[in-house]
Amino acid sequence: MEQYIIKGGIPLTGDVDISGAKNAALALVAAAIMTDDKVVIDNLPDVRDINVLIQAIEGIGARVVRRDANCVEIDSSTISSVRVDYEYIKKIRASYYLLGALLGKYHKAEVALPGGCNIGSRPIDQHIKGFKALGAEVEIDHGMIMTEAKELIGNHIYMDVVSVGATINVMLAAAMAEGKTIIENAAKEPHVVDVANMLNSMGANIKGAGTDVIRIRGVEKLHGTEYSVIPDQIEAGTFMFAAAATRGNVLVKNVIPKHLEAITAKLLEIGCCIEEYDDAVRVIGPEELKATHVKTLPYPGFPTDMQPQIAVTLALSTGTSVVTESIFENRFKYVDELTRMGANIKVEGNSAFIVGVEKYMGAEVSAPDLRAGAALVIAGLAAEGFTTVDDIVYIQRGYEKFEEKLRGLGARIEKVSSEHDAQKFRLKAV
Ligand code: EPZ
Repeated sequence: MEQYIIKGGIPLTGDVDISGAKNAALALVAAAIMTDDKVVIDNLPDVRDINVLIQAIEGIGARVVRRDANCVEIDSSTISSVRVDYEYIKKIRASYYLLGALLGKYHKAEVALPGGCNIGSRPIDQHIKGFKALGAEVEIDHGMIMTEAKELIGNHIYMDVVSVGATINVMLAAAMAEGKTIIENAAKEPHVVDVANMLNSMGANIKGAGTDVIRIRGVEKLHGTEYSVIPDQIEAGTFMFAAAATRGNVLVKNVIPKHLEAITAKLLEIGCCIEEYDDAVRVIGPEELKATHVKTLPYPGFPTDMQPQIAVTLALSTGTSVVTESIFENRFKYVDELTRMGANIKVEGNSAFIVGVEKYMGAEVSAPDLRAGAALVIAGLAAEGFTTVDDIVYIQRGYEKFEEKLRGLGARIEKVSSEHDAQKFRLKAV
């Protein structure tokens, strides 16, 4: 099993280039199959989740040509099935975007029901509510979601919960429906806007993405496009908090500062210096980090995908902080691991009460999920001594060249797959 081994205590310094947004790219790959023309998607992050979804669309007959690690040409004129097997969705939940895309294009889709995951139950009732509102029948049978519609008719849909996935899935299904669809209480994340922008570049007629009311006029068909994925605000935020926690000085490049406002605001609150440029943000960590309170909220609030990273940083601040997780019910599993590194955190319900400590001590920890795994790496980078992070396959799902980018900032980190390699690293790093 591969692990990261880290020698901590080195402030991160230098520049890091941010990749395309994983959570936008997943939906864009799904949207690409909605036309029989060629679609080129650039700035794709070369991460496991994207590569699995590309395998899933190849599995139903699409032809994908890789121009390079971050650019694909997708030809969906050869799709011969609307059934996406469990083997893909058990690897990535976001295969469920193929439901909306296939239903929107072929009026039929069969996708395995996504399981829960490490951060919560992850229901999809709002996705199903949207499909039904457009006139589709939806059945769940033997772990498969089957949906079919004689025709898709636009409708006025009010989301009971602000859901990124449901907003995007309904937008996909409605893009070629008859007439007008209004999605109320829509998610406003940058990746929702990115999907709407790509669909519009394919001939769709979608207005209001980025607000809580999205208006879609169905069109006859969609045509090909060349599209580039927006930068990953969560990858950027992860490196920004790594700079803060290690008291470093890092220029995070290829970002859209507007997408980072909630993250930047919190970094300022805890004492960091921030310099904003057109497509970059510099973060300078203070000698003494200040405590603060934060509650995760849908965009433009503080992102739930940044909750472990800010908690890890606050655990090194002076004073007591409270981190409240309002989106998912089980997103504090990393706290037990962090406690083994010397953190003083008490979780009660959906809040973590954090009493700052002076430093972390290196330890052996395991990544419980994607973002918590990245946060434990941040803890290792700030810790005294050596830290090994196990189960890094979670981290590789969503961070492209993670250890290379960190090494580019002066971090002493390596991916190892044996105790022998780990020992060699320890000897070299002393
Ligand atoms: C997306 O998940 C992201 N994943 C998540 O990122 C992110 O944490 C989440 O949005 C919130 O920003 C992808 O984009 C692939 P939601 P999604 O539907 O769409 C409830 C990462 O680390 N809900 O916005 O599944 C749900 O239980 C991942 O990159 C329903 O009740 O999230 C949750 O409490 C982790 N019914 C809340 O809404 C539904 O039908 C928000 O979930 C759908 C969701």
